Amino acid sequence: MNNNTFQGARLLILDFGSQYTQLIARRVRELNVYCEIHPFNHLPEDIDSFAAVILSGSPYSVRSAEALHPDLSAIKGKKPLLAVCYGAQYLAHFGGGEVAPSNIREYGRTHLSYINPTNDPLFEGISQGSQVWMSHSDTIKQLPERGICLASTADVANAAYRIEGEDTYAIQFHPEVSHSVDGTKLLSNFLFKIAHITPNWTPDNFVEMTVANLKEQVGSEKVILGLSGGVDSTVAAVLLHKAIGNQLHCIFVNNGLLRKNEFANVLKQYEGMGLNVKGVDASERFLTALAGKTDPEEKRKTIGRVFIEVFDDEAHKITDAKWLGQGTIYPDVIESLSVKGPSATIKSHHNVGGLPDYMKLKVVEPLRMLFKDEVRRVGRTLGIDPELLGRHPFPGPGLAIRILGDITPEKVAVLQEVDAIFIDALKEEKLYDKVWQAGAILLPINSVGVMGDERTYEKVVALRAVESVDGMTADWVDLPYKFLQKVSNTIINKVKGVNRVVYDISSKPPATIEWE
Ligand code: XMP
Repeated sequence: MNNNTFQGARLLILDFGSQYTQLIARRVRELNVYCEIHPFNHLPEDIDSFAAVILSGSPYSVRSAEALHPDLSAIKGKKPLLAVCYGAQYLAHFGGGEVAPSNIREYGRTHLSYINPTNDPLFEGISQGSQVWMSHSDTIKQLPERGICLASTADVANAAYRIEGEDTYAIQFHPEVSHSVDGTKLLSNFLFKIAHITPNWTPDNFVEMTVANLKEQVGSEKVILGLSGGVDSTVAAVLLHKAIGNQLHCIFVNNGLLRKNEFANVLKQYEGMGLNVKGVDASERFLTALAGKTDPEEKRKTIGRVFIEVFDDEAHKITDAKWLGQGTIYPDVIESLSVKGPSATIKSHHNVGGLPDYMKLKVVEPLRMLFKDEVRRVGRTLGIDPELLGRHPFPGPGLAIRILGDITPEKVAVLQEVDAIFIDALKEEKLYDKVWQAGAILLPINSVGVMGDERTYEKVVALRAVESVDGMTADWVDLPYKFLQKVSNTIINKVKGVNRVVYDISSKPPATIEWE
């Protein structure tokens, strides 16, 4: 995928496994500087073409036998280098200084009690007392050779230092975490005052470059792409369409487990965007295959298998297709290259399965360099409807994993009604954009109720709304009681077969967002 590499200035982030590495990358990208994350032990071949380097933090200690050792021979002293946390300790410990266990494990907010008055560019515009965020249990007792202390806190004498005669900087605190109030300022000082990088990573430049690359990569060949109604596949399709027009053949499958009216509405939207798209209503095929299945993983596998069959049937109708377009984004790429190796969870969550190997299609992934927020920004630049770009994530298996137990067309219809009432009300009350993901779950139990003089024995539904950044952790949303009351009344009055509504107040972990 080398033709996917950004041709403007590039910064390299060497990852030592810190949970904050992606956050560093996002902060740098927010400053319109393109950066790539590479594992500390797999330096890119074209390392010379990177303008500067940042070393990330790590869960390891430089003093332990498990310490991670990068090869910095092409970097240190040769390019601007900013070492964060573990990186700072690494440069000290193996550069003639000393790292020792701290008396206390430092975690949380603290303040810079001293900033070297030599006006070093790294601290330009940052005043003494600035709040920084620490997370470490080792401390730099003695600086490495030629080390000059740049800042201290009450507990950490060497909170920041530089190496004399080099553009090598090291900081113990985390500038990428928002609790470091001048963190972005410090990063921008490093990028622009020390490394002199031109900030040219913008959505416009990305679109221009990607469209040109796609034209060259694909030439006059045909591309097939599965649209899901989600942000990633839509933006990938629009980019490809801009590059190769109707050589792009999109397939949008209705698995019968989408939201109410979703298939028809989204298909119309796609057509309105000029995409060459075929809508395939395979609801019956999916629901027949799912009949009687209750185990969540079995449901997922069945949906994945039938999706591939349906997609495969359709793809074969497009003669001479050579490429499969996919909406893979950067976090998936990083995950597959991670210091700790690929994680199983991400894979089972993939929306659209790959095609069988025998189709031998080459893969084209126009978004593989982008974080999710960047996909949305690019989508805006491409003129995609903001409502579509702001949609909540929706799982590939759709309502199948929100109907606990076996799935029938009747249950799907009930859940679609409930879900639509909830989602429409969120939109009406302007709460939709404050929530990361919301939906309803049909529980496999009936409960007793009264309707007039009659006793009822009907279904229970749960409502779920969460706040999250990436779905890995999530908090339930404190929706107003009045709102919940109104939604509950509407559901019970309007949806036949439901007599009870509950609200899920569990966070992830230990609960998950979906119930299955
Ligand atoms: P959990 O339930 O694991 O969900 O907390 C985290 C995020 O992943 C979505 N999810 C899925 N997405 N296929 C998908 O495409 C799946 O099988 C699947 N299971 C969960 C979920 O909606 C949430 O956004």
